[in-house]
Amino acid sequence: MKVLVIGGGAREHALCRSLSLDPDVSALYCAPGNAGIAEVAELRPVDALDGDAVCALATELGADLVVVGPEAPLVAGVADAVRAAGIPVFGPSGEAAQLEGSKAFAKDVMAAAGVPTARSYVCTTPEEVDEALDAFGAPYVVKDDGLAAGKGVVVTGDLAAARAHALGCDRVVIEEYLDGPEVSLFAITDGVTVVPLQPAQDFKRALDGDEGPNTGGMGAYSPLPWADPKLVDEVMELVLQPTVDELRHRGTPFSGLLYAGLAITSRGTRVIEFNARFGDPETQVVLARLRTPLAGVLLNAANGTLDAQPELRWSEDAAVTVVIASHNYPETPRTGDVIEGLDEVAAEDAPDAYVLHAGTRREGDAVVSAGGRVLSVTATGSDLAQAREKAYKAVARIRLDGSQHRTDIAAMAAGRP
Ligand code: AMP
Ligand code: GLY
Repeated sequence: MKVLVIGGGAREHALCRSLSLDPDVSALYCAPGNAGIAEVAELRPVDALDGDAVCALATELGADLVVVGPEAPLVAGVADAVRAAGIPVFGPSGEAAQLEGSKAFAKDVMAAAGVPTARSYVCTTPEEVDEALDAFGAPYVVKDDGLAAGKGVVVTGDLAAARAHALGCDRVVIEEYLDGPEVSLFAITDGVTVVPLQPAQDFKRALDGDEGPNTGGMGAYSPLPWADPKLVDEVMELVLQPTVDELRHRGTPFSGLLYAGLAITSRGTRVIEFNARFGDPETQVVLARLRTPLAGVLLNAANGTLDAQPELRWSEDAAVTVVIASHNYPETPRTGDVIEGLDEVAAEDAPDAYVLHAGTRREGDAVVSAGGRVLSVTATGSDLAQAREKAYKAVARIRLDGSQHRTDIAAMAAGRP
């Protein structure tokens, strides 16, 4: 099978790494990719937002499967263009991707499907904003309605800051604050059958102890030793299957990866958000534990044959990933800094620990930073404590001027039985 992956972050590196280990994959391409992905896939340049260009590339390569990684091309309808050309594609249509592209659309789907989520108001005027902030009280949760790369959400006790963020958005969702630990649960679906993956936890804030601004994600781990073993079944029944059914009944079936961001509150599990693609950095730890070869699962979803998919197999190992971000992330990250130590990790720590590239590019012989999140250092071990130790040992070998990472990824969970 020839597979073309669209995107160029750590999620796509994790996908390409798994696909490159799949004996059914005879050729693997990634467009546009990055310096790390180049080691496991052949890179091609493409404007990932241009459906016709992606289609032309897939046709030229004779791709049997196209996997669209990031949300922006999905929302732009790139999967529709590929599907229309008769090429199997893993990723929802532009309409179904509105589940991520519009918080208001997601709330509407959840209301119709009876999916538990935070109570919310959609506001377009300053008066509506004030009423909604007043109705819920502090802490305030204010969400830009559109795509914002994980940075459109402000959670604050400061009314003036909440108001300022809301007034800077055209349309804004203001909602009830959900207390409790967060879980990311991914499911692969063909629009009818839903296959859950293993849950993971992401660290959204920039600094240790969940301080600092929201980011795209600073680290993740899986499994969750503290979670109720029935969590996956419960979320399947209350959230994932009803959402997939609702979108199918609306005539916009969702096929691809449905990501449920959940809060485990004292009053039960609630959806914080949906995403229409693999999450980053959770994908790095979830795929590190998946034993079933990936390509066949994604192809079954693309072809509408997931009902024939044998049960997924998982490693007993735990996985931890630690994101190394550039100077000044998430504000205005500095790029172009040389990254050193990658060879040392490959020589000393592989295969238990390895570096997935997020924002990197090659400059002559050097690999340099090219984005806010630069690397995602991933490790597996017999438990979270061991995976964590291996991940941080590898992190310590990486040298990148001005870089930052959290030191507490999976720390609390590793201390639990
Ligand atoms: P989102 O982009 O909707 O996932 O929001 C980003 C982050 O903001 C989430 O991962 C949560 O940490 C936080 N957040 C979002 N919505 C809520 C909420 N209703 N209550 C508490 N925290 C929230
Ligand atoms: N880990 C958060 C996201 O992918 O949106």
